[in-house]
Amino acid sequence: MKFFIDTANLDQIREAKDLGVLDGVTTNPSLMAKEGITGKENIINHYKAICEIVKGDVSAEVIATDFEGMITEGQELARIDPHIVVKIPMIKDGVKALKFLSSKNIKTNCTLVFSAGQAILAAKAGATYVSPFIGRIDDVNWDGIDLIEQIVHIYGVYQYDTQVLAASIRNPMHIVRSAEVGADVATCPLSSILGLLKHPLTDIGLEKFLADHQKGNA
Ligand code: G3P
Repeated sequence: MKFFIDTANLDQIREAKDLGVLDGVTTNPSLMAKEGITGKENIINHYKAICEIVKGDVSAEVIATDFEGMITEGQELARIDPHIVVKIPMIKDGVKALKFLSSKNIKTNCTLVFSAGQAILAAKAGATYVSPFIGRIDDVNWDGIDLIEQIVHIYGVYQYDTQVLAASIRNPMHIVRSAEVGADVATCPLSSILGLLKHPLTDIGLEKFLADHQKGNA
């Protein structure tokens, strides 16, 4: 399973990259705004900065919601760097835009996916990635992992090329469960990636190894 980091924060992207396990980055308009990145030129420069750090797929979301706007913006974003993946919302014009951009060999990530039906449409339209939001599904008392499992199953039956990108991950167990049910990618906050490291027996075991080493070498 590939690991993407879900942030526009350059320090966090560098930290995840330095860990040696980072395959890509996803952003969205909320994450860009959180970093104070506003205005077309600043947004473009920020995507360039991210692409300088990570040599993997970097999702950049369109703001337009009409077909013409999305394909114009999508093509502009794709020109920033060969690693840019154009993020398109799961709406009617979005499906058309996915189809258009994939026919131009531009990589796409269909976002705001909350059902298997939406995931089928994204795959039919040729999306490179589909992003089911598992945390937001859990927030409304449904099961986000069940949806990942359902989509992985359907894509397997029909051998769709679209990769299942588990998004809206909130904790390390979301990553583990996504891996268990066969997600191709998990996009995670840095805290969830680092959370995978944690086990008290590791800390206790290391402390004992080092103490025994000290005793043996005293
Ligand atoms: O980038 C899309 C997704 O990961 C958003 O996550 O935590 O805002 O639901 P969240």
